[in-house]
Amino acid sequence: VNLKSCNTFGLPATARRLVRIREAADVRRVVDHPELGRAPKFVLGGGSNLVLTKDLDAVVLKMEIPGLRLLEERTDAWIIEAGAGVPWHELVRWCVEQGYPGLENMALIPGTVGAAPVQNIGAYGLEMKDRLDSVEVMDLVTGRPVRLPAEVCQLAYRDSVFKQSGPGGLAGKSVITSVRLRLPKPWQPVLGYLELERKMAETGISAPTPRQIFDWVCAIRRAKLPDPAVIGNAGSFFKNPVVTPEQCRDIIGRDPGIVHYPMPDGSIKLAAGWMIDACGWKGKTVGGAAVYEKQALVLVNRGEARGAEVVTLARAIQESVYGRFGIRLEPEPVLL
Ligand code: EPU
Repeated sequence: VNLKSCNTFGLPATARRLVRIREAADVRRVVDHPELGRAPKFVLGGGSNLVLTKDLDAVVLKMEIPGLRLLEERTDAWIIEAGAGVPWHELVRWCVEQGYPGLENMALIPGTVGAAPVQNIGAYGLEMKDRLDSVEVMDLVTGRPVRLPAEVCQLAYRDSVFKQSGPGGLAGKSVITSVRLRLPKPWQPVLGYLELERKMAETGISAPTPRQIFDWVCAIRRAKLPDPAVIGNAGSFFKNPVVTPEQCRDIIGRDPGIVHYPMPDGSIKLAAGWMIDACGWKGKTVGGAAVYEKQALVLVNRGEARGAEVVTLARAIQESVYGRFGIRLEPEPVLL
């Protein structure tokens, strides 16, 4: 099976077999299947956080479970339930249109609902962690469903129990089939992010509606992030590194302009995009892979890029940032 159209980077690779999962019970069917049951499995959502560098010797479970509904309206929250295969942005738009606000800052993030908790997607001051109620997973060994409350999922910056492979980790052991979100009532806008403050100043709107925030976030993203339908990419290619205040002071001493944000726990998050930009990488290419001109944190496919070219470019960026700042950038998407 060709996977080129199944990953937003548009990288060439094949898989041994691809099974479309349209309901949770389909996972059980794969697990119980005499051949497929024993084969290694790879779970694929929208393929928007994936860098394919080789063919997969695995059965790909392509998550296409539909469904979107208000499960329950409480005095203090709306509980929304969505199938793992629903495109994330469709869920956000539906919620805003139906009058269940609370996800608008995360508009236009590529990928599916089922993938959202795995890397704890987030943008413009809000992340999945702030809205997750629980997930339903299917165990890939027993084929049984289990409901996991948000606490068990251990969401952290672009991380969760679903990415952990050590003891207690669930990487490769289970697949998310549906997600419940808890949208607190009364709604309160999340407006701390600089670019949203700029929109408020520009428009003179100091108390925006959920719809306005939704439209602003869409406009901000469209202006600087490439649309994967037009230019292949996997969003931010590196995580923003977190350092100690001492390390940060050291870097500021040499590079006073470095963009950094204090975290609630006292550590400091550095803007990786700024560092890559400062090293002069915008627009640079390796074969078909390139650093996006408008956002240095995003690597793009200029046409016929191969996974190996993306990895070569990423390594060169890591070395150059390490050389100048002494910081090791960690890739954000899954490299295969
Ligand atoms: N910057 C530069 N040059 C660049 C890129 C960025 O100077 O080429 C500066 C910006 O001016 C800004 C700072 O770096 O002052 C941070 O940039 P930005 O606000 O665009 O956000 P980011 O840190 O690059 C993160 C997330 C994005 C998310 C945005 C908005 C990560 C790895 N990325 O990007 O998430 O949309 O914040 O909240 O945390 C993703 O994970 O795929 C993703 C797109």
